[in-house]
Amino acid sequence: MWKGRLAIISLLVVSLLASLSMFTVGGASDDQLEVYSWWTGPGEEEGLAAMAEAFEASNPGIRFVNAAVSGGAGSNAKAILASRLLANDPPDSYQRHAGLELLDDVRSGKVQDLTTLYEEQGWRKVFPKGLLDNLTIDGKIYAVPVNIHRANLIWFNPRVLRELGLAGPPKTWSDFLTQAAVIKGKGKVPLAVGPEWTQKHLMETVLLGELGADSYERLFSGDLRWTSPQVTSALDMFGKVLANSDVRSAAGEWQPQLDRVIEGSAVYAVMGDWSSSYLEQSKKLQWREGYDVATSPGTEGVYDFLSDSFTLPTGVRSPSLSRKWLIECGSADGQNLFNPLKGSIPARTDASADLYKGYLGWTLQQWRDPKTRIVGSLAHGVVANNAYNAEIDSALGLFVQHGDLGKFASTVQQQFQETR
Ligand code: GAL
Repeated sequence: MWKGRLAIISLLVVSLLASLSMFTVGGASDDQLEVYSWWTGPGEEEGLAAMAEAFEASNPGIRFVNAAVSGGAGSNAKAILASRLLANDPPDSYQRHAGLELLDDVRSGKVQDLTTLYEEQGWRKVFPKGLLDNLTIDGKIYAVPVNIHRANLIWFNPRVLRELGLAGPPKTWSDFLTQAAVIKGKGKVPLAVGPEWTQKHLMETVLLGELGADSYERLFSGDLRWTSPQVTSALDMFGKVLANSDVRSAAGEWQPQLDRVIEGSAVYAVMGDWSSSYLEQSKKLQWREGYDVATSPGTEGVYDFLSDSFTLPTGVRSPSLSRKWLIECGSADGQNLFNPLKGSIPARTDASADLYKGYLGWTLQQWRDPKTRIVGSLAHGVVANNAYNAEIDSALGLFVQHGDLGKFASTVQQQFQETR
């Protein structure tokens, strides 16, 4: 009860602060562009700043106003954005994920069709078809992708694995449970977890690893029921995995779970590849030395993707100015500036691979390998619309507290029908 009230009060405070800061830095003026995102973490902040600088250089006299609201996966930003859109007070462009996350905005007329811009810029030829499909609703394209991120990854400290006598990260979730017994015997936590959205991110990767790519896709298209024996057994595995984690609270940030892995109090963390810029730029660690990463258990050859994209909101002061920002986002130069800092790979197929070293080079090669099977992320908006995702959040919050798997599955199944 108190937790709920506290969350509401903090959201109100954050909204108030955000609107105050808009009042001081934003405001209705044609010589500035307000861009809304949740990129305030290490790497992403620098990536955004690099694109902002390039935007200002190619649009003299226009000031870039960074309206980012902190909170991993947009946990605060999305709520504040919703109230701004409701009040018809949109920023000049805002961040959304490619996929069904765009659907509500399109249906409620909050974003404009970008098909002509795509034609002018020749973008249909430079973005992968699967990604274009995820940006298209009823034949029209609604957002411009800057990057590709990967969700199905398990991070670890190779030194800790060696000290524990573990030959490598687990290949399946059953392997993980076997390793977990050894790890606990040595007084460490097998898996570090963070706030609610990271718990959902973990669930997504366990479902993918246990069900396989085909059934994972059928689950989100509605062909496979959450209450089916196959999904029940995958959820049962998720419950066991959580029982071997340090899950504590729905609040907080994603970086501390990686900190525990690097310090060695915990051994593994499942997280997206924004982790690589955090570990390299903030923690000054090198891939394969200070930190390492593998595909999450059971998902070898599968790429669970998400893509950060920007929109042209309805009712912006200057659509042509917003379009200039979108051109920066979709350009080869913009993507080359942004992604190496952000810890993501370019959405464009023609970007040079030379800029992507270490972990990023490894993942870019897999993304471009025609044999790789690509599926979309749940926690980062590809396979579920906002209403469905919000219902999964609530049901998952209860499941983590009470562990009633049957109730979780039947609630989510019912919500799938109701939020379609
Ligand atoms: C994702 C987003 C990433 C990164 C991450 C952590 O949803 O796509 O770019 O910001 O959240 O906040």
